[in-house]
Amino acid sequence: MSEHPTHALPSYLNAHELGPWGIYLEQVERVTPYLGKLARWVETLKRPKRSLIVDIPIELDNGTIAHFEGYRVQHNTSRGPGKGGVRFHQDVTLSEVMALSAWMSVKSAAVNLPFGGAKGGVRIDPRHYTRGELERVTRRYTSEIGAIIGPNKDIPAPDVNTNAQTMAWMMDTYSMNEGATTTGVVTGKPVSLGGSLGRVEATGRGVFVVGREAAHDAGIPLEGARIVIQGFGNVGGTAARLFYEAGAKVIAIQDHTGCVHNGAGLDVLALLKHAEEHGGIAGAPNTENLSAAEFWSLETELLIPAALEGQLNKDNANSVRAKIVIEGANGPTTPEADDILTSNGTLIVPDVLANAGGVTVSYFEWVQDFSSFYWSEQEINHRLETMMIAAYASVSAVAKEHQVSQRTAAFITACTRILEAREVRGLYP
Ligand SMILES: NC(=O)c1ccc[n+]([C@@H]2O[C@H](COP(=O)([O-])OP(=O)(O)OC[C@H]3O[C@@H](n4cnc5c(N)ncnc54)[C@H](O)[C@@H]3O)[C@@H](O)[C@H]2O)c1
Repeated sequence: MSEHPTHALPSYLNAHELGPWGIYLEQVERVTPYLGKLARWVETLKRPKRSLIVDIPIELDNGTIAHFEGYRVQHNTSRGPGKGGVRFHQDVTLSEVMALSAWMSVKSAAVNLPFGGAKGGVRIDPRHYTRGELERVTRRYTSEIGAIIGPNKDIPAPDVNTNAQTMAWMMDTYSMNEGATTTGVVTGKPVSLGGSLGRVEATGRGVFVVGREAAHDAGIPLEGARIVIQGFGNVGGTAARLFYEAGAKVIAIQDHTGCVHNGAGLDVLALLKHAEEHGGIAGAPNTENLSAAEFWSLETELLIPAALEGQLNKDNANSVRAKIVIEGANGPTTPEADDILTSNGTLIVPDVLANAGGVTVSYFEWVQDFSSFYWSEQEINHRLETMMIAAYASVSAVAKEHQVSQRTAAFITACTRILEAREVRGLYP
């Protein structure tokens, strides 16, 4: 990454190797011309409000002491407390956590949730540690970042390699330090501990809702529409089932074990059962195998990457024959692929909008925790649908108004909301 000429970079990042933060800065540059008078405040978006690096020492089961590096970054809290997951991964860096925290600011604002953006991470490969060791890492990390998190300050959630159990340990540690049970300090908790019904399916459900809206706008009837999905886990599996139940034809799915195809439509319920029993979709009955190249070049109405980053890239983008791409995963399309797909006439519904169903139900969980009053799953799904439809409509309207991609439109919508809040609050002191 070359030097960024228009603003000072923090000394703690390498200007020649900006990593994910560099990608985020380019995205901010791209929306700045659309911010009007609010552009005066744009530097706010280029600096995280607060970045905390902590040392996490724990005693391993073998009696030795290990140290891990942990981060919590609060990118922006102009519109509300920070919100964002905690990732356990051996390659986590400050640049990555900064970028992820900024994308959370954008996602929360794009869907109009009253949150800012934050993210956390610990440099650890959890596969090499026991449950007890991971509990100690989680608890010490929570204590170390305890001063800056809280239900009104910053609310962590699960991300890569963390789950509801991790959140239960975080909530318990925070509560013990506070001397009061504080369920609202994290979301994505077990339902028995103040978690929300519908949270597990929320991201896939949001993908389904925006996919349905985008298809409708493009004049594509959902009944019989072809759907191709990469990833058959929480997000991809839920989206596949909802499209299937709505009468669409899921013709191909890829997971880490391979690709399965059936031009007449896959039996998604049977596939879910097969994947659960066999650890993946490979070898499912009534399906034919496809190579990865064949998978990406299938003619389809909707293509839903819901697995990993960078899956649509310059090597395969030109072969894609999908009318609409719905980004279930975070960052599945590289900037080069974004340009190729757009110039080939494929509509891309960006991750910050398409996969925002998870943080939306996290917001519902936080609201329920504050009031200690819990909603039915039906009510949660209904409210989720209403918010996703409104978010999709407002981003689409901005895209049409400025003749820009939905990604740029989502950034315009979000950055405008954040900077309006910044301006009206004014600078302290
Ligand atoms: N779970 C959420 O609430 C949520 C919210 C927002 C965004 N996301 C994003 O959605 C994506 C998927 O998350 P998830 O929670 O469904 O994860 P998951 O672990 O439940 O499922 C991941 C799926 O991807 C597949 N996969 C892994 N490696 C693959 C490969 N090399 N090729 C093809 N498929 C592969 C796996 O087989 C699995 O089916 C991630 O990018 C995540 O950041 C998830």
